[in-house]
Amino acid sequence: MDERVTHRVAVGPSGIELDVRDGEDLFTAARRLGYHWPTVCGGKGTCRTCFVQVEEGAENCSPVGPLEREGIESLRRPVDGLTRLACRLRVEGPVTVTKRGVRRRMQE
Ligand code: FES
Repeated sequence: MDERVTHRVAVGPSGIELDVRDGEDLFTAARRLGYHWPTVCGGKGTCRTCFVQVEEGAENCSPVGPLEREGIESLRRPVDGLTRLACRLRVEGPVTVTKRGVRRRMQE
């Protein structure tokens, strides 16, 4: 794992592009880069609000762990690698996902 290495994640339908660090989850990367990402639990893997649909690059996504599996099942979605929790998703190459509600945070 090398934090200087980043991977491009495109987020539709807004067309946002995020450079996610090696070993960093997508939710944390989006927040670090100044984006609002839908959440209730703040990235603990329990609210499932952060879920995304993977459109391309599923082969570049980290394996689904037990907590994430539970979350996906409770969304009544198949655990097929295409529905993922952003706060558990790490990437090793370019990925395209769909997630509504991702937007640049207002200046605080
Ligand atoms: S942010 Fe709550 S499960 Fe991902």
